[in-house]
Amino acid sequence: SFNKSIPQGLKRVPGPKGYPLIGNVLDLGKNPHLALAKMSQKYGDVMQIHLGTRPVIVLSGLDTIRQALVKQGGDFMGRPDLYSFRYISDGQSITFGHDSGEVWRTSHKLAQNALKIFSASPSPVSSSCLLEEHVSNEADYLIMKFQERMKEEKSFDPYRYLVVSVANVICAMCFGKRYSHDDQELLSIVNLSNDFGEAAASGNPADFIPILQYLPNRTMKVFKDLNMQFSAFIRKIVKDHYISFDKENIRDITDSLIDHCQDKVDENANIQFSDQKIVNIVGDLFGAGFDTVTTALSWSLMYLVTYPEIQKKIQEEIDQTIGRERTPRLSDRSKLPYTEAFLLEMFRHSSFLPFTIPHCTTRETSLNGFYIPKDVCVFVNQWQVNHDPKLWKDPSTFQPGRFLAADGAGINRVESEKVLTFGLGKRRCIGESVGKGEVFLFLTTLLQKLEFSVCRGQLVDITPQYGLTMKHKRCEHFQIKQRF
Ligand code: HEM
Repeated sequence: SFNKSIPQGLKRVPGPKGYPLIGNVLDLGKNPHLALAKMSQKYGDVMQIHLGTRPVIVLSGLDTIRQALVKQGGDFMGRPDLYSFRYISDGQSITFGHDSGEVWRTSHKLAQNALKIFSASPSPVSSSCLLEEHVSNEADYLIMKFQERMKEEKSFDPYRYLVVSVANVICAMCFGKRYSHDDQELLSIVNLSNDFGEAAASGNPADFIPILQYLPNRTMKVFKDLNMQFSAFIRKIVKDHYISFDKENIRDITDSLIDHCQDKVDENANIQFSDQKIVNIVGDLFGAGFDTVTTALSWSLMYLVTYPEIQKKIQEEIDQTIGRERTPRLSDRSKLPYTEAFLLEMFRHSSFLPFTIPHCTTRETSLNGFYIPKDVCVFVNQWQVNHDPKLWKDPSTFQPGRFLAADGAGINRVESEKVLTFGLGKRRCIGESVGKGEVFLFLTTLLQKLEFSVCRGQLVDITPQYGLTMKHKRCEHFQIKQRF
């Protein structure tokens, strides 16, 4: 425990004094990422707070975070046993579950391989890969929907349509299926993500103050219900896959997991995968795959209408490189440095995943000369890194140009590697390349055909609202103009 004497040569982690029973909960306020970034200026990159009576280590600074998550990756790869996480896939989620041992390793590897095969393999009907094929279909449909809305309403909120298009891409990979934009079942599932993000965000008091678990709490009640609804949705789809399963025709990620599970006990791990495990893995991929990408695209649209001259520059780059006839491809990314710089700046400036998912230590360790015990919860402040005045000039201005190489012909690699969005090390996002590729393809396909703006006189509010993934306020005043 923390009161144990500190091993020789190591220092005690510094931090603010808290109140009895609640600790520093009130200090976090409405925007814990901002409050903790500010606090780190006083206490340093390795700092300790208390939430309730539980100690939490908060990491800031890119070098310190790299040291912990990469160089000492094994020490910091755990997930804390938080109250809210027990309700996600019955505590068996590969993303939120407490296990980081053999079962986690095997499921993690299976998920990674399945995701790679069902995104990068060639499409059977064109010369594209599966991801390009799915995004191209959904983006065309999305453009049609936007045009229809524009004609009927004169302005609209793009989020509602984006979320279904993005969900359809991950559905195509996971389940081999797409939903209509009016499908009530899918809409009810994708609309759960805000309530999910509220409860699963770092610093939810109910995770740290046990008494709150027994008091009526709207956030947690909603959270329990939505996890049950989500599991039931996934379970039904997996069950249908079992019924129509054909070993000779593996249609999607769910089929490939069923195949793996029926075929053999994993040679390396000796772990038999249960049906429930399959439900949890596809649930994790689907859950992680639609909310993050939708949020990234939605922030992109907000920045584009806030800075019309930036939008124009991206469109010029697309016109000159891809032209107006063919669909953008992943191989175009390296030829569109300004577009790439815009996306990096969107990730940096919004930092819409302000913290990674909470980590915990797997053994007693030390960091920067400070003693850190086993099983202690660790928050990694990505927002702080992305706005650190020691790393960035004018961190609060939105300025894609900061990522361009001096000759303007490419991306400045040193700058781009300072952006922290997908975590680092053993728990780094497994969907990073799919996610980045998907955002690039959606955005370039939309901007090739459409110009976005908001109605005259309407102001755009890009203040993030705190959560696991931070959203902006919804905006109903979007307008589009067809470019040709
Ligand atoms: C984990 C970001 C897209 C699957 C994470 C983490 C972050 C992140 C910050 C936590 C890292 C940590 O705890 O240290 C993002 C962003 C995305 C994105 C910004 C899109 C723009 C995706 C996609 C998928 C995915 C498309 C899958 C289809 C996962 C999984 C984990 C994860 C399974 C858990 C890894 C683990 O606990 O070991 N992601 N992600 N993500 N992400 Fe993503």
